[in-house]
Amino acid sequence: MNTILAAKDLCKTYVVNKREQTVLNNVSLQIKPGEFVSVMGPSGSGKSTLLYNISGMDKMTSGSVVFKGTELADLSEKEMSVLRLHKMGFVFQQINLLKNLGIIDNIVVSAYMAKNGSRKEINQFARELMARTGISELADNDITQASGGQLQRAAICRALINKPDIIFGDEPTGALNSKSANEIMEIFRDINESGTTIMLVTHDVKVAAKTERVLFMIDGRIEGDYYLGKLQAANNDNIEREQKLLQWLLEMGW
Ligand SMILES: Nc1ncnc2c1ncn2[C@@H]1O[C@H](COP(=O)(O)OP(=O)(O)OP(=O)(O)O)[C@@H](O)[C@H]1O
Ligand SMILES: [Mg+2]
Repeated sequence: MNTILAAKDLCKTYVVNKREQTVLNNVSLQIKPGEFVSVMGPSGSGKSTLLYNISGMDKMTSGSVVFKGTELADLSEKEMSVLRLHKMGFVFQQINLLKNLGIIDNIVVSAYMAKNGSRKEINQFARELMARTGISELADNDITQASGGQLQRAAICRALINKPDIIFGDEPTGALNSKSANEIMEIFRDINESGTTIMLVTHDVKVAAKTERVLFMIDGRIEGDYYLGKLQAANNDNIEREQKLLQWLLEMGW
């Protein structure tokens, strides 16, 4: 099967106060290039841990994660960070922009690190991304001079600046009001349509219903894998998809 990312028997164990806690319990999953996947499940079920382990941000305890043909467990920390810098983008609930840099500087910094073109080319691409996400006018602003929704758009630009193959989001709409959340999901849909694979953790049925496939985690395992199909642009009224998803989540014991 054509996969961009495949996890097999992925386990993650934390030791807290000498007690072992298994947070990921033999998780196996495959993501195809271009898929738009969300991960749902109760708090503490291991969603963030899954995201961090399949993206190499955290080190798995055992098992295998293959990303574009590379086994992550075989990489040194340095090799892993180079792979992440060039091929993966991250968007979090807490926006994590650097306070002492302006918005455009926050967006370009990882492209400078990756030496992805000349500074002029990088700045031009950053401005294209800002136009695409509707924040052109903020380029020279300080990050204190923007709303939460605008900052999340900037964070998405930052995640896209090195043209990653995959974007990981950990509750990227979690801190936003529903209007901003909808707008951010529209941007993700557009990014996905242009070919980037996306995997988002969310608690929000409305958000998950806009993705193509929903994984459901309980107690460190993937207990369900539901295919909704791609959301079409014209299909902005999401009610039917939300109802189908909700029905499935209830059957899963949500
Ligand atoms: N660094 C850590 N050290 C010890 N335990 C941890 C660590 N990170 C997470 N855990 C534990 O692992 C379990 C899963 O945490 P995780 O953050 O992956 O859950 P989640 O599904 O993302 O929850 P939420 O929806 O609340 O964000 C929790 O019991 C948590 O306490
Ligand atoms: Mg989490």
